Amino acid sequence: MSERRKPLISGNWKMNHNHFEAIQTVQKLSYQLTRDDYDAVDVSVHPPFTNLRSVQTVLEADDIPVALGAQHCHWEDKGAFTGEVSPPMLAKLNVRYVIAGHSERRDLFDETDEMVNRKVRAILAAGMTPIMCVGEHLEEREDGTAEQRVSSQVEAGLADVSPEQVAGMVIAYEPIWAIGTGRTATPEDAQAMSATIREVVRRSKGADSAGSVRIQYGGSVKPTNAGELMGQPDIDGALVGGASLDPDNFSRIVQFRHTT
Ligand code: 13P
Repeated sequence: MSERRKPLISGNWKMNHNHFEAIQTVQKLSYQLTRDDYDAVDVSVHPPFTNLRSVQTVLEADDIPVALGAQHCHWEDKGAFTGEVSPPMLAKLNVRYVIAGHSERRDLFDETDEMVNRKVRAILAAGMTPIMCVGEHLEEREDGTAEQRVSSQVEAGLADVSPEQVAGMVIAYEPIWAIGTGRTATPEDAQAMSATIREVVRRSKGADSAGSVRIQYGGSVKPTNAGELMGQPDIDGALVGGASLDPDNFSRIVQFRHTT
């Protein structure tokens, strides 16, 4: 693919903002973003489940071209899974992107590569786009096994996903030591791991998938570092946590092209 992939900048709100705060946040965000921004960058927001309906209503009523995203789902369509939410339920709310395998879910709720793979396939089957997260712990970076860890997460997460489906997906590289810590991977390190991820996709799914899949960087992305990270050839977007809660900060990240 010779054309540059359109960046996707996603705000993962994690367990923050009730539905009133969520409505205010997307409205304020929409005052900051312009048609040029939406032409240059795809934008998604990922509020907690309790806010999805409210945010969907605001986005649709005010015609705001921000995509609705979710942070998690189960892989089954329905059944006895107390507390869980299914992909078809999210699709019914016009959710476009669903995060799968965020490191907080892997580490705090014991999500395995196999569970992440089941979710990725279920999200695709429901017609939505997975944002599949991968990333190494600090010890893995320090003992030189980071690439191995991330490569195996990519391979396992994409098992039995067709090359065409992978081409439309998003993979987020989020080094765990950079999440919420204020520590960001250097643009060079983030680029190197993104290139590794693309190479794993090329080997397992072919050159077309590797050329089209979008790779986001996540981990302490801020208005001040977004431009440099996004300037790397294999980084096609950002998955933003803390800085996405504030519409001023998040809009400045979306407008990263003005700072490069
Ligand atoms: P921070 O931007 O707060 O480091 O969070 C990153 C993240 O986990 C996004 O999914």
